[in-house]
Amino acid sequence: MSVYPIVLTQGTFKHRDSLNFPFEERGLQFGDGVYEVIRVYQGKYYLFNEHIDRLYRSLEEIKIAIPYTKEDFAELLLELLKKNDMDTDGKVYLQVTRGSAPRDHYFPENVDANIYAYAEPAARNIEMMKTGVHTITLPDIRWSYCHIKSLNLLPNVMAKQEAKINGSFEAIQHKDGLVTECSSSNVYLVKNGKIYTHPKTNGILHGCVRIAVEKFAAGLNIPFIEEAFRVDDIAGADEMFLTSSTTEITPIIKVDQDVIHDGKPGQITRKLQAAYAADANIAQFSEDVPVLTSKSNE
Ligand SMILES: Cc1ncc(COP(=O)(O)O)c(C=O)c1O
Repeated sequence: MSVYPIVLTQGTFKHRDSLNFPFEERGLQFGDGVYEVIRVYQGKYYLFNEHIDRLYRSLEEIKIAIPYTKEDFAELLLELLKKNDMDTDGKVYLQVTRGSAPRDHYFPENVDANIYAYAEPAARNIEMMKTGVHTITLPDIRWSYCHIKSLNLLPNVMAKQEAKINGSFEAIQHKDGLVTECSSSNVYLVKNGKIYTHPKTNGILHGCVRIAVEKFAAGLNIPFIEEAFRVDDIAGADEMFLTSSTTEITPIIKVDQDVIHDGKPGQITRKLQAAYAADANIAQFSEDVPVLTSKSNE
């Protein structure tokens, strides 16, 4: 299914077929903009404030101003779900660019940002979360401001495609052997009951699900250590998992040729998945118990 018909653009709601963006658009020509992907469960946003906060941080970093307060923009995004009668599991993609102007590297003057958002259905990938995924490792060739959710995703796209070609779901990226994050998710290693992940520097995107995982770990008394692990540590990991708004908390059971522990999702990963389900008010699952399907899975 395509996106829901009503999209939010420049503060108004329009039919998706009526949109006509010009070629001279800074997002298109320079990747000069930022974006967010927000999870929706049964028509309700999850980690909404975290995404809004990150959007405004990204905008500030690249010096784009939009004519809405956080509260006003949040209202518009809530309205977007209402206008589409969205009550399924899904996601909202939203993008803000520096606007439409003749192509020139200098920021254009007196040009409004282009803002749009659309909603689409997206079922939870329960199978993947149950069984876990394979990943590869790759050098992280990205720029120095990965904390900005920039539209410039070419290295991420290349890495994800490389993973696919190798029969894997994701690519774990590393700088000089130190693991940063995956191409579209954060990554974690569990060893001796502790969770390790890269600190929140400019080298990674500060994931909204990561914020939640840190909170769940605290609630479960599991040490959450913001310390980058090495590619060499992976072979000896007890568990590994990745997180993002669309993949939630997904176990990693193989990295390159290394099977993680016994090749099955670990107990800490399972506890975090249960905490996520409780926090998001969605169906829990285990290996043996059939999953309650949500409307979008029917
Ligand atoms: C590079 C990268 N890291 C991490 C994440 C996870 O972020 P979040 O948990 O906010 O979805 C994403 C999500 O798109 C991403 O693209």
